[in-house]
Amino acid sequence: MKKRKMVQEEFCCPTFNLPEKGVHSWQAPSNIALIKYWGKYGLQLPKNASLSFTLSACQTQTKVIYTKQKQADKFSFKVFLKGEHAPSFEPKVATFLERIEAYLPFLRNYHFDIYTQNTFPHSSGIASSASGLAALACCLLSIEKEHNPELTEEKFAKKASFLARLGSGSAARSITGPLMLWGEHQGTEKSSQLFAIPYEEPLDTIFRDFQDTILLVDRGKKEVSSTLGHNLMLNHPYAENRFQQAQHQLSQLKKVLKEGDLKNFTKIVEMEALALHAMMMTSDPYFILMKPNTLEIIHRIWAYREANDSAVCFTLDAGANVHLLYPKKEKKKILDFVKNQLVAFCEKGQYICDEVGLGASVIES
Ligand code: DP6
Repeated sequence: MKKRKMVQEEFCCPTFNLPEKGVHSWQAPSNIALIKYWGKYGLQLPKNASLSFTLSACQTQTKVIYTKQKQADKFSFKVFLKGEHAPSFEPKVATFLERIEAYLPFLRNYHFDIYTQNTFPHSSGIASSASGLAALACCLLSIEKEHNPELTEEKFAKKASFLARLGSGSAARSITGPLMLWGEHQGTEKSSQLFAIPYEEPLDTIFRDFQDTILLVDRGKKEVSSTLGHNLMLNHPYAENRFQQAQHQLSQLKKVLKEGDLKNFTKIVEMEALALHAMMMTSDPYFILMKPNTLEIIHRIWAYREANDSAVCFTLDAGANVHLLYPKKEKKKILDFVKNQLVAFCEKGQYICDEVGLGASVIES
């Protein structure tokens, strides 16, 4: 018997007269998780809720040109990175389009030329899948929006997050800002496994313009893909505790965000980063993504914080790079600290200055 796909009715698309061709351009930011998503099941559903800062400078800019095809049974597409045909991106995009076709059925009538570029170096070790798939989801959903007046701004953001999630889990959190929460969480109304929601709980103003300086420790290609890493959580001996820990830390973090409690912010955020890497180091097979310079930087951050009564803290994603998080009022001092002490541990001395941002936006042509 053929397995029937489960479709979420809420996100289905009405039929409309198909345009011959058109173009949409969007940019979407990267995001950095404070509470980490690591472990998934089913079709891109998270084992625990996660919460992230939406970033501002690290963006993917995407233009989708769509042309109606004579034969309307399967979409076709080509991806171009900085104007050059980039076949290595195509398998991920193909899987994405197949997964979202049930929600944008007109896709099968079109050929898509997808032009994409990042505002950050591609080989920087910064995940471009979150920003890339969020930007692509927004471009494709814009085709529906042109013909569906029911798709208000709010519904657009929700469906864009829902679609982006099917491409990459963390992409669900790259649609709006300044913070986004994805995954069911007890005590957070409207939280969902299916899409991320803007974090609308009380938020101290200090977090609205928080800074993220990304130290590029290792710009190499990821040694272990996120999908592989997530899968290793399935039979992981500590997985259940880790998922519970994340849910609990999120509840704690909500209080911290409300009160502007920087001391406990540091504690939770650093604990999450190290818990994520501890899961990697204790899976079967085990792996270590931190490099010696990652550890050197962490120790220097701790020493600097102690000596200067600073609120700077760090987080990590699935790689060796270090994100330095701190309030805007410390910007000058922290950048001096980076230049004087940390840059020596960055590959080719590179780092990116980013800050909290508000999410994806249309690129006017
Ligand atoms: C460590 O979203 O890249 O950055 O859903 O398989 O595409 P897929 O995984 P991905 O995982 C991100 C993991 C993380 C933590 C986080 O961003 O929450």
